[in-house]
This record gives sequence, C-alpha cells and structure tokens, in this order.
Amino acid sequence: MAKFLFVTDLDNTLVGHDQALAELNHLLSQHRQEYGIRIVYATGRSPILYRQLKAQKHLLEPDALIAAVGTEIYLNGSDTPDPVWAERLSQKWNRDLVLAASAHFADLVPQPESEQRPFKVSFFLTQTAAAEVLPQLESLLQKQGLETKLIYSTGQDLDILPRRSDKGVAMQFLQKQWEFDSQQTVVCGDSGNDIALFSVGEERGVIVGNAQPELLQWHWSHPASYHYLAQAACAGGILEGLNHFGFLK
Ligand code: GLC
Ligand code: MG
Repeated sequence: MAKFLFVTDLDNTLVGHDQALAELNHLLSQHRQEYGIRIVYATGRSPILYRQLKAQKHLLEPDALIAAVGTEIYLNGSDTPDPVWAERLSQKWNRDLVLAASAHFADLVPQPESEQRPFKVSFFLTQTAAAEVLPQLESLLQKQGLETKLIYSTGQDLDILPRRSDKGVAMQFLQKQWEFDSQQTVVCGDSGNDIALFSVGEERGVIVGNAQPELLQWHWSHPASYHYLAQAACAGGILEGLNHFGFLK
C-alpha cells in the first residue's frame, strides 16, 4: 500500500453523514499511522467557522488546513497562515478596490464579517440575480485592472479571490512541498468552489453523490477517466471513491 495525499472539502463532502464519517475517519487514521498518508481539509470556511465545525463534529486533525477557498494555508495545526502563500496572493490584489467595484451591485449581500478575509471578499447572491450580475461584475473588475477570480457555489455564495488562488492551486502548493504527484492524490468535493480541485491537474477525483448542479454540470462537460461520481452521499461517497481508485486496499 502506497501513501497518498487525501484532500477533501468539509461541508456536504466529508461532513453530512455522521455514521459514514466515523467509518472513514477510522480507516484514514489507520492508514495515516501505517502508511503515512497526509490528510488535508480544503474548505470555504474561515478558520473561525472551521473551529465551530470542529467543535460539533468529530474531525481528525489534518496535516494541513486550506481555508477561505484556498486563500489561507495552515500547516500542522498552526494558527498562523503560511506566509509564503500569503505573500504570493498579495501580489496584484487590492481588496479596497474590489469592495468599491462590488458596491455597484445591489444584489450582492455581504456575508458575515468572519468570512471576509484578507484575500477573500464574500457575498450572498441569488441564482436568479447571478446570471446577470456575474458577467457584469467580472467585466467591471477586469476594466479596473483587478486580477480577481469569481467563484460561485451552491446557488448562493459568491467569493472574490486573487486570480492565483483557489482550492486547486493551494492543494498544488502542498503537493510540491510534500512531493506527491497527481496519481498519488485524491480530491473530494460537492460544489462550485471544489471545481478547482478537479480541474487544476489530473488528481484522482471523487464527486460525492449529493453534489450540487454546478459541479455536476462541470463534470459532465469535462469527462475524465480519473474522476469518479459516487452513488453515496458525503463520507459514504468518499469511501466508495477511495475503493474505486484502490486507495484503501
Ligand atoms: C463557506 C464560507 C463562505 C463561502 C462558501 C463558498 O461557506 O464560509 O464564505 O462563500 O464556503 O465558498
Ligand atoms: Mg462543500
């Protein structure tokens, strides 16, 4: 059994089905002890909301936490975001100008303060308004020379990030540091902000059975033999996918 890098989203991917989560946790901690696999959580949550989830659910201690949609990386339980990653994202990012541009759109409703991060500005945006607002906002940001990336998830959350960030590139940063290639990496997700995990390279990908329409649509329009659409929901789907790829032999 070779070691591998296990990267998973939290809400509605790893978390959402307690019994399957307990089973998966058991297998993963066994594999971590025996084969030295690495566990990474890649979440949209800020560290504040991550700690709230941790207080409610039994989560294994990850080897790294990718938080705030890939804009913050915390290694080995550290409370300080990785400075190399932060420095990289700070180039060509101007948070105040992003906020000023967003203020032109009445449909953008700011998310709670805890989710406004140094490299992430987040709003609620309805699906109906999104079709009109997203292209307009994108072109305004571009016109102003702001190098940003818009990520829309679950038909309600809009994140504006520096162009060189998302969960996928953050995952690659760890891969490089720990020397895992795409065949030794499995990524798991359910929604729009996870698409970057599946599209950045050729990692083994598990799309859980309860995935959101935006991820399913992406999956169907980008067929790849190294992506697996599970039947089961949440951690049950991850278990199914890990078995499919032979990672849990
Ligand atoms: C999490 C974050 C939120 C973000 C969403 C989608 O719910 O708390 O800020 O918009 O993920 O990425
Ligand atoms: Mg999710």
